[in-house]
Amino acid sequence: MRDEARAGRFPDGFLWGTASAAHQVEGDNRDSDWWEFERQPGRIANGDTSEIANDHYHRYREDFALLRELNQNAHRLSIEWSRIEPTQGEFDARQIRHYRDVLGEMREQGIEPMVTLHHFSSPIWFARKGGWATRDSPHAFLPFVHRVVDQLGDLVGLWCTVNEPSIYGVNGWIGGEFPPGRRGDIAGLYRVTSNMYKAHELAYGAIKRRWPDAAVGLSHHKLLFLPASDKRRDRWAASTAQMALDRWPVAPGRLGRIVEATSDYIGIAHYWGQMCAFDPGRPRDQFIRRFNVPGKPVTEMGMSADPTWMRLVLNELRNLGKPVYITESGLASHDDEWRRRYITETLSNVLLAIGDGVDVRGYFHWTNTDNFEWARGYTVRFGLIEVDRKTLERRIKPSGHLYGRIAAANSLPG
Ligand code: BGC
Repeated sequence: MRDEARAGRFPDGFLWGTASAAHQVEGDNRDSDWWEFERQPGRIANGDTSEIANDHYHRYREDFALLRELNQNAHRLSIEWSRIEPTQGEFDARQIRHYRDVLGEMREQGIEPMVTLHHFSSPIWFARKGGWATRDSPHAFLPFVHRVVDQLGDLVGLWCTVNEPSIYGVNGWIGGEFPPGRRGDIAGLYRVTSNMYKAHELAYGAIKRRWPDAAVGLSHHKLLFLPASDKRRDRWAASTAQMALDRWPVAPGRLGRIVEATSDYIGIAHYWGQMCAFDPGRPRDQFIRRFNVPGKPVTEMGMSADPTWMRLVLNELRNLGKPVYITESGLASHDDEWRRRYITETLSNVLLAIGDGVDVRGYFHWTNTDNFEWARGYTVRFGLIEVDRKTLERRIKPSGHLYGRIAAANSLPG
């Protein structure tokens, strides 16, 4: 595998995919907490809503056919909890059938699904009871998990229990960009992330008991923090910020157990990085000042990006002894030429990491179609495929064609 990578080839059986989330593409998710949140004035850029989104709920066949055209053999999607269980304890058999059709269609088209069970959106009934901040939340999530695992599990070999607990918690309880829109609530953040890890552990058990051969993990968001200088205090600032995002509030021992006992693979989402400096004038930010890395381009999400960081991020996982899936990587920009360069350079860093000995099994580009980017609505573009906001017509961008050629060749051009 390492020799192949050094010769510029990805391992045999490598998964080439894109990643998406139900609420960002399906449309009409009216029982979700996001649906209500989007209707509060000032929450979403431009006043955009997910009302129709990409109408993927009805156009999934067309969307998967486009992925086939791009030689994709995998796709990461989420099952919308609020569709399956719109009222607590009441499950909608019609929606289960819908997702059976979706997953069946993917299989027919030769696309292996990676199924996420929670990707940032929750049913309104759950949010009204306090959502992920309540002690009971992992158990309230479980009946949905059991239902999906029982009734859809025969179509799924790869599971991602929860998406990015740390980002979900920070955006909803510290920055106020996600429902419930709270700010500066550190205790809330602690409870939310902690409960989501608990939910992961429970879901892991539920899936493995029913489908022991399935591979189960979660997606961790890796924002890379670099020290602003070689000074000890700046190195302290970067490592403290990194630890807060990567580990806190899960005690190192517990995180170790999660990785050891309830992760068949490590899922990593990496997009950007920032620098950290020690700043005595910022007691409210734990004395850490964060800023974009000078000289590195800044994406439409306001953060600096550099494809070489992917190799650093992956190498941190090398000694965990688990397979790795890049559950998300992508670029927020209207400049598709930049996206093409970014994809090639990122993938060449993935190859370097494989050459270093990291067992990377697949790459899921975020995302296939330009979509509803949460608080930013439709103002930023991550997709390989453009969607006309009036007609919803899809058009593959040059970056999509490039990614399709790489997937077909299982290697980089040149
Ligand atoms: C999330 C996606 C989001 C992407 C870009 C990831 O952290 O999982 O839902 O669209 O970042 O912001």
